[in-house]
Amino acid sequence: MSFRLAVLISGKGSNLRAIQEAIERGTCAGSIVAVISDRASAQGLTFAAEHGLPSSVVSVRDYPDRSAWDAALAAKVADFMPDLVVLAGFMRVVGAAFLDRFAHRVINVHPALLPLFPGTNGPEQALAAGVRVTGCTVHVVDAGVDTGPIIAQAVVRVLPDDTNDTLHERIQHAEHQLFPRVVDAIARGVVTLGAQVRMSGASDDGTILFAPLFRDGPT
Ligand code: GRF
Repeated sequence: MSFRLAVLISGKGSNLRAIQEAIERGTCAGSIVAVISDRASAQGLTFAAEHGLPSSVVSVRDYPDRSAWDAALAAKVADFMPDLVVLAGFMRVVGAAFLDRFAHRVINVHPALLPLFPGTNGPEQALAAGVRVTGCTVHVVDAGVDTGPIIAQAVVRVLPDDTNDTLHERIQHAEHQLFPRVVDAIARGVVTLGAQVRMSGASDDGTILFAPLFRDGPT
């Protein structure tokens, strides 16, 4: 039976697209059984509709408080019986009810090399710090903000004339290559999530968990 993915988005959904396109190409195992957004206006919902992916909106505004929203989000995601919950540009912190229900089954992509530059504006923080390389991180989600066990990272150069937008665009190019690989590795059991992230079966050849200097380019 196919490995079931629930993808949570808030905006553009370019990582959703990258994962779905990898699935369609046959380079990512599993299938997306649900796309869930906290915003009805998320562009990624249009992509989901065009590709026949079931979608749903769970807006924080429809609930009296954060914990009610968190419980409703967890219930909605659970309806789709996912093996893995993929936060792909989901701009809200999921709470305890959600994480309890999907322990060790929630992953996120962050636009910096964690533990550096957590939170919002990873590219902006990298520019302000003057680092020469930054990148992206795929990690297990825990109760903190961008603090869970690291699964994989890719490195991106910071160029002298970079702006937040140009740097973020190249980081996203790396995300679009790394994230589907990680999902595939989890779906195939090459990477196992738990209190620690473990490799099993084939040993990592450097292309899944660490991808040095992806060729810079547009998405
Ligand atoms: C990505 O850069 C990701 O690192 C961050 O949010 C952004 C989402 O982009 N968490 P998209 O919606 O997948 O295009």
